[in-house]
Amino acid sequence: MEATEQQSLDVERVREDFPILEREVGGEPLVYLDNAATTHTPEPVVEAIADYYRRYNSNVHRGIHTLSQEASVAYEDAHDRLAEFVGAEHGREEMVFTKNTTEAENLVAFAWGLNELGPGDEVVLTQLEHHASLVTWQQVAKKTGAEVKYIPVTEDGYLDMEAAAELITDDTELVNVAHVSNTLGTIAPVSELADITHDHDALFFVDGAQAVPNRPVDVQEIDADFYAFSGHKMLGPTGIGCLYGKRHLLEEMEPHLYGGMMIERVTYEDSTWAELPWKFEAGTPVIAQGIALAEAVDYLEDLGMDAVQAHEDRLTEYAYDRLSEFDDVDIYGPPGDDRGGVVSFNVEGIHAHDVSSILNDHGVAIRAGDHCTQPLHQELGIAASVRASFYVYNTTEEVDALVDAIDAARDIFN
Ligand code: ALA
Repeated sequence: MEATEQQSLDVERVREDFPILEREVGGEPLVYLDNAATTHTPEPVVEAIADYYRRYNSNVHRGIHTLSQEASVAYEDAHDRLAEFVGAEHGREEMVFTKNTTEAENLVAFAWGLNELGPGDEVVLTQLEHHASLVTWQQVAKKTGAEVKYIPVTEDGYLDMEAAAELITDDTELVNVAHVSNTLGTIAPVSELADITHDHDALFFVDGAQAVPNRPVDVQEIDADFYAFSGHKMLGPTGIGCLYGKRHLLEEMEPHLYGGMMIERVTYEDSTWAELPWKFEAGTPVIAQGIALAEAVDYLEDLGMDAVQAHEDRLTEYAYDRLSEFDDVDIYGPPGDDRGGVVSFNVEGIHAHDVSSILNDHGVAIRAGDHCTQPLHQELGIAASVRASFYVYNTTEEVDALVDAIDAARDIFN
């Protein structure tokens, strides 16, 4: 198949902002297709981090000196920027910065779940959940006596919505689904699930780690009660995640971490809590990361989220089609034209780790393993898979390089 380049993104221009892409690995040009694990950081974001440390590095909400004021304003504004990016109604009050998506999941599980769940209550997840939500709710259910149920995945990789409608009942207290599966690429019908969930007066929580980076997301349109995502998967730095929560829910919730910054008044006997979102950001927070993530959002919006999604869709479909040319490549999940930007597969007779190692010899970086979805891999009857995932700087030529390297792996093992 001929590689056709029709990106509406100016990919060559975009690539100039990512010097890491000029690297060679094993004497070959780097082909980085591990973007679902983490994305690279463009120069303006690196510059935002450097600028913070060079010019106004200071703790926030603790000083009235100029540097602290500047850092505080930039950090607070970053919350507004992220809130706006996902369509929150009440700005920073609905946007809590965490360490990552996993911590955002844990925040809701511990601050809300531990207090609200009990025997007879149910939390509904899906079979394709990442360990970030699956393990977290499993453990909170054990502590509270609640039960976890799983919406099954159909043979072709979609959520079984008939089963979902039966599993979500008046016993359900919360439904937590991955917006886009990090393994199958399945796009969950989140608005439909939100409606079913709300019909039973339960809360709807979306793990958007693989969605916010590559498609326009509007939490109000979805009617999500909570929505979590990570900075490092959307051109931002590591060490920052975001939790959107409806204001009235965050107001009602108790903090889950205690200490400085999250308090209003403290005596030896008791304490009261700071206003939202600071009540959930105990200790010195993720200052440089938050400011840099706001810069990443500016970068993405300059590209245009519709263009980002179109580019991602095009590469994903192209990769799916090219991999489908091989009889001995098993691809998991929905068709190439109906999934998020990941393609997981196995080459028959070659372990995923061996494929990964040979791809690495050709400069191609992908992820091999269970992608933090062990139960889903068990359900698929496989121990591991190879996963290619794409982002704004990838090209169809890089997909061709992936396919050529798979061919080389096949030659070695055959
Ligand atoms: N959740 C990340 C992934 O899917 C780490 O690779």
